[in-house]
Amino acid sequence: MHLQGLSLSHFRNYASLSLACDLQTNVFIGSNGQGKTNLLEAVYYLCVARSCREAQDRDLVRMGADHFLIQGQGRSAEGREVEVQIRYARPTGKKVFVNESPRRNLSDLYGILAAVVISPDDRRLVQGSPGSRRRFLDIAISQSNAAYLSALQEYRRVVRQRNEALRAYQERPGKTEGLEVWNAPLVALGSRIMRKRVEVVEDLKEEASRIHAAVSDDNECLEIDYAPSFEYEALADVEQAFEEALDRAAPRERVRCMTEVGPHRDDLSIRMNGVSLQAFGSQGQHKTAATALKLAEARFLWHRLQAPPLLLLDDIFAEIDAARTGRLMEMVPAYGQTFITTAKESDIGDYRRGITRFRVHGGAVTPYD
Ligand SMILES: Nc1ncnc2c1ncn2[C@@H]1O[C@H](COP(=O)(O)OP(=O)(O)OP(=O)(O)O)[C@@H](O)[C@H]1O
Ligand SMILES: [Mg+2]
Repeated sequence: MHLQGLSLSHFRNYASLSLACDLQTNVFIGSNGQGKTNLLEAVYYLCVARSCREAQDRDLVRMGADHFLIQGQGRSAEGREVEVQIRYARPTGKKVFVNESPRRNLSDLYGILAAVVISPDDRRLVQGSPGSRRRFLDIAISQSNAAYLSALQEYRRVVRQRNEALRAYQERPGKTEGLEVWNAPLVALGSRIMRKRVEVVEDLKEEASRIHAAVSDDNECLEIDYAPSFEYEALADVEQAFEEALDRAAPRERVRCMTEVGPHRDDLSIRMNGVSLQAFGSQGQHKTAATALKLAEARFLWHRLQAPPLLLLDDIFAEIDAARTGRLMEMVPAYGQTFITTAKESDIGDYRRGITRFRVHGGAVTPYD
């Protein structure tokens, strides 16, 4: 899969942009605050219809404008010529078109083009809340599995409704019927989501450990595991364990009016050399681990979609030492089309074969040479 052309209108600091992309490696060089990350954000948005910086859609609209438009042509995961257009306007929201035909659900967009972004924000994967790690897993799986995204959206709706029922119960204790109807869909959907996540983590953990070992020159051993909010013996018994966990949580849930167990409370445990990376790792180690996880995500998507996703590397030279960066950059050509940003041209070093360089300045992109 690849992106051949990208056009932007009123996106972040780009009034208008039309860019012909290198099908292999694109390097964007520019000073701070010129629009390098904004450009990667636009490419990511075209694939996933959301910001990789967790920004609100309205903040992506160029200040003073009332809408933005991102358009891209290229080749889809299935090898077809494809044109994707995403328009957002404040009153009407987001509209997605694939080959000019409107798509109602985001799940219809996922998997046509896929992207993995590696950026300074990845430190959230290690240092942030469990929600950041769940989001990572959910986006990785959704990009390759539309049914997962639908199940996840439905599950979230069930959790919201069940929480409302818990609040109603607190106001009128004794009336449990309104509450109990939500247990069966919660358990059914939640168990499906957990099974899928566990299966994917099994894939990701091997790959991430391998990549981490290579980048750290075999000095560090990364271990990743799915950390569920309740214990179960075997994955086949997860429904029963979920029901039992709900029974145990019932008194707490009725006080707090929150659904306290289920995949919306699960986490990913990340350890390095046998100890918690969050508690004991250095910044560079956090960054190396997060990068290994993201490259593992790219490998996973490649395997599932049978085509390498777009790899977006934002400022990866910050925080990682030169030796690690060198080993990382040696791996990058093995992936598919890549978009790299840097503030310092010298960071690109010897990595100059078969690349197209662009200069980014004040929301304009020009050839570098
Ligand atoms: N909605 C918006 N409208 C107009 N300008 C915006 C909008 N959002 C962000 N910007 C501008 O975009 C610029 C930041 O762009 P970006 O994050 O892409 O910088 P960068 O080139 O990646 O810089 P750095 O090297 O510091 O990471 C800032 O000058 C900011 O004011
Ligand atoms: Mg940036």
